Amino acid sequence: MPSDPQTTPTRNALRGQEANVASQRRRWSAAVDRWDHHGVLGLDKIISAVVDETAALHPGLAVDVGAGTGAIAIPIAASCGRVLAVDVSQAMLDRLAERAAEQGVGNLETLAAPAERLELAAGSVDVVVSNYALHHLLDADKERFVHQAAGWLRPGGWIVIGDMMLGRGGDSEDRAIIASKVGVMLRRGPAGWWRIAKNAYRLVTRTAERPISMAAWVQLLEAAGFVEVSARRVVNEAGLVKGRRPGPAA
Ligand SMILES: C[S@@+](CC[C@H](N)C(=O)[O-])C[C@H]1O[C@@H](n2cnc3c(N)ncnc32)[C@H](O)[C@@H]1O
Repeated sequence: MPSDPQTTPTRNALRGQEANVASQRRRWSAAVDRWDHHGVLGLDKIISAVVDETAALHPGLAVDVGAGTGAIAIPIAASCGRVLAVDVSQAMLDRLAERAAEQGVGNLETLAAPAERLELAAGSVDVVVSNYALHHLLDADKERFVHQAAGWLRPGGWIVIGDMMLGRGGDSEDRAIIASKVGVMLRRGPAGWWRIAKNAYRLVTRTAERPISMAAWVQLLEAAGFVEVSARRVVNEAGLVKGRRPGPAA
């Protein structure tokens, strides 16, 4: 992790960032159908946890970053004044907008933009929320994102992050998560063995997925000045971390 997230990325870092954004956009624009039916992938518990945490804050404006087809943005809309759903993939947002219209959700807008280049007015947002998206960012961009989010939030506003939270096997918690995932996949036979190889490759090379541990997220939030930072594991690899920008509650 770099030591100063305020620093403008170097030219090399910018090239890496651009390549990552382009590859995420390509990958996810081709995965809309698969993701829209991802109930089967077992993410329901983390989605419910993130929705419940965010809805309970009754934000005037909630910004969902990496919103996908709306698993968070659509259900929270009933408890928010307004929701802005941001995603790098326009195709994902088109599906999100269709689903919102089908469900009669009228207080939701979409914005196609990478998290790395998102610009929002200072102090204009009540809650920044993100589920299973920030692990796609490079580590330096995760850190910059958290700092920027602190600036977009009004004093007293919250950041709520649900994500795959594990390091690269360096501590016992990581190893327990990895062992449990491997156990589940081994029991699935050859299809599971293929997934073990694919996931191991991704975890080691960090080409598309770059999760960090829950402790690392807590550190990032604290370093960005968030207070009342708390973290909990929701299920296996999935964790939820949240923090409040200092200042009076709304
Ligand atoms: C695993 S899906 C999660 C979608 C949704 N949050 C959910 O919980 O169902 C990851 C989403 O992050 C988006 N994404 C990936 N990289 C991104 C980036 N750099 N900026 C914004 N969105 C990004 C993808 O397009 C995709 O929609």
